[in-house]
Amino acid sequence: MEKHWTLEQIPSLEGKIIIVTGGNSGLGYESVRAFAQKGARVVLACRNLEKGEKAKDEIFRSTSKGIIDVMKIDLMSLDSVRNFASAFKEKFERLDVLMNNAGIMATPNFKTSDGFEAQLGTNHLGHFALTGLLLNQLKASPGSRVVNVSSLAHNSGKMNFDDLMFEKGRKFKTMQAYGQSKLANLLFTYELQRYFEKNNINSISIAAHPGGSNTRLASHFEESGFMKMVSKIARGAMQSAAKGALPQIRAAVDPGVKGGEYYGPGGFMQVFGFPVLVKSNAASYNIEDAQNLWNVSAQLTGVNF
Ligand SMILES: NC(=O)c1ccc[n+]([C@@H]2O[C@H](COP(=O)([O-])OP(=O)(O)OC[C@H]3O[C@@H](n4cnc5c(N)ncnc54)[C@H](OP(=O)(O)O)[C@@H]3O)[C@@H](O)[C@H]2O)c1
Repeated sequence: MEKHWTLEQIPSLEGKIIIVTGGNSGLGYESVRAFAQKGARVVLACRNLEKGEKAKDEIFRSTSKGIIDVMKIDLMSLDSVRNFASAFKEKFERLDVLMNNAGIMATPNFKTSDGFEAQLGTNHLGHFALTGLLLNQLKASPGSRVVNVSSLAHNSGKMNFDDLMFEKGRKFKTMQAYGQSKLANLLFTYELQRYFEKNNINSISIAAHPGGSNTRLASHFEESGFMKMVSKIARGAMQSAAKGALPQIRAAVDPGVKGGEYYGPGGFMQVFGFPVLVKSNAASYNIEDAQNLWNVSAQLTGVNF
């Protein structure tokens, strides 16, 4: 039987440069902490600098290793994504790991500043643009990795290419929108791996999911008193954010990981457990959908690569 993969197996990350989006909270925070503890230089990318600095201070209370740079990115604004990428390029010539982690779930129906449905805009389109804008930095680091954080919710997702943003009369269902965005994370991961291979780029693209982890992700469910209670009970039964972050951390730094792989918890129905190689659903491996998504994402964001 394979030995459980834990933080102890992470090699030294001295000299590595890693970006974690949404690094101030939940799984992103745990990832930043794990990378810093192994000596990496980590860019904690967040939309609220105050929260980012607070998270950095907390991390440095438990470790004196690594370097953390807090930098601003709001994935709901392409201008902000471009500003982040420019600021990053001014400071760093290369990038070893881009962890596209930030996300929202079950939000009401609203639009990003560029007019995208909020969950698709934040969880997929913002990260698609960020990846394209940082391609040269990834290329400058042989063996660099892009890690996209998906979810078990991709199983209920469907790519509705005729109406990606719920604008043509179909009723907005928030978990359908979330499922679509998390399926998009996987389609993008696998298409990005094919793109790297086709263009002889020495980088790999991997996906991961945390099963069910106790973070602030479900806060939109908690707006009514009853749902707050239900959510509190559900959160109590979930694994910790530190455990839930292990699959994405493994995808980012385990030397044995290969491009196009997907990591998730190895326990009951992938809801909890130590990280192992898993399979996503058949829809996520649909090459035509992956190409359609890439083309539409390039068109919508104006980032072509
Ligand atoms: N927790 C789970 O059980 C679970 C299950 C499956 C998948 N996931 C995935 O795991 C990832 C991390 O979520 P989490 O569970 O750690 O939740 P979380 O604690 O709510 O963290 C989400 C992070 O994303 C950031 N974020 C949200 N919108 C953003 C935007 N427009 N621009 C920049 N950053 C933004 C948040 O920033 P603020 O602090 O400013 O809000 C926060 O740092 C998400 O992609 C989620 O879909 C989680």
